[in-house]
Amino acid sequence: MPFSLPIHNLYQPADPGQHFPPGFVWGVATSAYQIEGSATADGRGESIWDRFCRQSGNIADGSSGDTACDHLRRLDEDLDLIAALEVDAYRFSVSWPRVQPLGQGAWNEAGLRFYDRLVDGLVARGVQPHLTLNHWDLPQALQDQGGWANRATVQHFVDYALGVHRRLGRRVATITTHNEPWVMAKLGHEDGIFAPGLRHRATAMQVAHHLLVSHGLAVQALRADGCAARLGIVLNLSPVQPATDSAADQARARLEDGLLVRWYMDPLFGRAYPDDVLVHLGADAPQVQAGDMAAIAAPLDFLGINYYSRAVVGADAPFDVTRSGLPLTDMGWEVYPEGLTDLLLRVHRDYPVPPIFVTENGGAFADTLAAGQVHDRDRADYIASHIAAVGAALGQGVPMAGYMVWSLMDNFEWASGYAKRFGIVHVDYATQRRTAKDSAHWYRRFLQRRRAQQAGTVLTTTGV
Ligand code: FCB
Repeated sequence: MPFSLPIHNLYQPADPGQHFPPGFVWGVATSAYQIEGSATADGRGESIWDRFCRQSGNIADGSSGDTACDHLRRLDEDLDLIAALEVDAYRFSVSWPRVQPLGQGAWNEAGLRFYDRLVDGLVARGVQPHLTLNHWDLPQALQDQGGWANRATVQHFVDYALGVHRRLGRRVATITTHNEPWVMAKLGHEDGIFAPGLRHRATAMQVAHHLLVSHGLAVQALRADGCAARLGIVLNLSPVQPATDSAADQARARLEDGLLVRWYMDPLFGRAYPDDVLVHLGADAPQVQAGDMAAIAAPLDFLGINYYSRAVVGADAPFDVTRSGLPLTDMGWEVYPEGLTDLLLRVHRDYPVPPIFVTENGGAFADTLAAGQVHDRDRADYIASHIAAVGAALGQGVPMAGYMVWSLMDNFEWASGYAKRFGIVHVDYATQRRTAKDSAHWYRRFLQRRRAQQAGTVLTTTGV
């Protein structure tokens, strides 16, 4: 009974109050490895995250996604939960090793059937499915052959994309090729803190390039296959600010902006890789084949942006976030909603962007579940203030198409394990019981109010 809490007991953050257009898509997001569990069930192959979690020291609490939210076995309950939120859309990812265990060749019918049920279940409940092909869980069998550093993986990804499209593509609203290529390349292959745990900058940059090429080739292949879903990619972007106005800090911020934002945005919108970053990389710059840059620039139907905070960088020492005076989330990330407006205005100014979805936004906060309630005022405020930031960008002409909260429910937060909770629905991992937090009630109420405003009626429920 996730929505048993009477509405008048709720803390109500200010109504973000902006006039979002009819058709603006409101959603919640998850990813396969973070919620599904059933890691070895029904013929699923091993993913690089299964392997990475088993190597000691990689995950803060020594956990893995083996069980996670047990979503695979609780699909119907979770579909009802999504529907109860009254969102327009649900963003999820397909686990490549669940549907194609070795990453090439044979398909796993049981895995495909699960996503059939998921997509059909969403459509039956009036919720648009937004499908991501790659949210980091590469089949380990492909990693054994070099993974994303191996050019052959590009073609395997295109084949995988086509297979998923043929099975599910007609019933989904959007298809995202990759979630956050920067994270996979940098955190996975240069910093070694995410799977596959490599520490080699040249490899990381080659991976980034292969991710972009595979994105472009997959978009072309899906279009040629008659894809009706809107096609795009999801980037993690932040405004990058210098820690001080010293020339050295400013130069460093410009370079970080190149590595995080321009390295991806420039080629997606038809430009070469940024010169300043190429000079910085020197011999670590990737091998680029003839035709690659044209492939990467395949037209996008939408751009997905995941936004959590700004990045502040100093030339000499890392920026100390505790000194900024901004509130911090449980991840230690600054709460900085104006950064989202700034970012959206900037990408709109600098690039010919298609409609933009904020595909992830939310906050980890240390929650307390008591008497079946979680009073997560901090998370509700976080979400409300970022929705207002999107509204501000909309008001200044940025073509915003939707906003999705990260996350539907608490889940396996990668290297942080289960200690960090991003959900608007609480998960008790011992019992798998789901409890809507105040932020979920607020979000649902906010959506109800939007709809009522658009329908020209006024909601009069007590206390709101
Ligand atoms: C993003 C990821 C998502 C989640 C959030 C907190 O980088 O795409 O899976 O972990 O961060």
